[in-house]
Amino acid sequence: MGKFLYLAYMRRPVLHAGAGELVYEIREIVKKAHLFQKMGLEIFWENIGDPVQKGTPIPQWMKDIVAGLAQDSLSYGYCQTKGVPETRQFLAKRNNDLGGTQITAEDILFCNGLGDAISKVYQYLDPGARVLGPSPGYSTHSSAEGGHASQPPITYRLIPENHWYPDMEELRNKVKYNPSIVGILIINPDNPTGMVYPEWYLREIVSIAKEYDLFIVADEIYTNITYNGVKAIPLAQVIGDVCGIAMKGISKELPWPGSRCGWLEFYNTKRDPEFGRLVKAIEDSKMMEVCSTTLPQMAIPPILSHPEFPKHREALNLAIQKRGDVVYETLKDVPGLLVNKTFGAFYTTILFKKGVLNSTQKLHVANPDARTLVESMVQSVNLDKRFVYYVLAATGICVVPISSFCSDLMGFRVTLLEENPEKNLWVYQKLRSAITEYLAS
Ligand SMILES: Cc1ncc(COP(=O)(O)O)c(C=O)c1O
Repeated sequence: MGKFLYLAYMRRPVLHAGAGELVYEIREIVKKAHLFQKMGLEIFWENIGDPVQKGTPIPQWMKDIVAGLAQDSLSYGYCQTKGVPETRQFLAKRNNDLGGTQITAEDILFCNGLGDAISKVYQYLDPGARVLGPSPGYSTHSSAEGGHASQPPITYRLIPENHWYPDMEELRNKVKYNPSIVGILIINPDNPTGMVYPEWYLREIVSIAKEYDLFIVADEIYTNITYNGVKAIPLAQVIGDVCGIAMKGISKELPWPGSRCGWLEFYNTKRDPEFGRLVKAIEDSKMMEVCSTTLPQMAIPPILSHPEFPKHREALNLAIQKRGDVVYETLKDVPGLLVNKTFGAFYTTILFKKGVLNSTQKLHVANPDARTLVESMVQSVNLDKRFVYYVLAATGICVVPISSFCSDLMGFRVTLLEENPEKNLWVYQKLRSAITEYLAS
């Protein structure tokens, strides 16, 4: 006898209207890749933004610092709600030494990674108050922003034909004609494009914020990951007396993503009572959780001021630059593609030119199970997802479709973290052949 499942219904709908905005395709693609892996395919994880998982070595001196802190009983306790005071003082001084907008330790709030910080910043905004963000853009921001408003995100374009710099005319017009916009988000250096904002663009954004009484949010988690002769300019250096929030962390820079440790720096909180109230609500929400992870906060001053740290970061940046050059040189002349050089973070976005993709293109998939699976997956998906799934099934190379980054462009994002240079070159040569075959099919 079969069993019957009697469905019950909650007395009223229980889901927040914004829940539909919560999509994180960067991880969704991993689930798909695991299905192919189970069928015997070797997967090349060019989607992963975790340097540790990709084999970035953690220097012994850094491990020694963390091991030493584990001997200190205080590292097992709660810390102050805003974070370990000595660390906040250390970070406030680092900011102030830049000579821009000054802060104190009280203007810093530690969170459990920037993921936590991002959801707090948008969660306490009035549902009708919107933050204009980049497209393409890191989807944790766009999902959290769209989720708080129960509306699709409002975006400004990053222009691929102009080094991915923002479309300033569009940005200004959206602010001017949409009074619900209260803030502008920048991600600098940018995920997923690898673009670093030149000073002129930052100053323009600050002047728009000043003219229309907005605040600026700058996600600066990659601020010290730059190369090819470019440096990122922190928000504090250009913001003057405009209200703003910089988001910083150690996930990518040390790297230590498993620490779940990042922080918010609030600029000019006393300039505008409304902004001051938002900052207080964000701080109060952390108070309800007591505090964020203690030991990683204690590790920040000794690690960042260690004499080996600048050399360590410089070597990692140079390695990212070299991998970026391989991707650029291997793919830049492929007909139908638009590829930019990368200057920061560890991602590159490869675009398909308008009209080159269609819904009949495919790749030869040798594994019959993988062929059946991919054919079922590509029913009614975006054209760039179709490409990404075919590449995965045919070559095992796992990349993320750019339509997953709050964008209607067609393309994909790759990470620049493969430790083995021969494997890195092989992957992109293989990808080049796959793209050529796909576009010709
Ligand atoms: C732009 C950006 N901000 C924030 C995060 C999340 O960082 P965390 O590990 O501190 O949560 C990421 C992670 O990929 C990111 O790319």
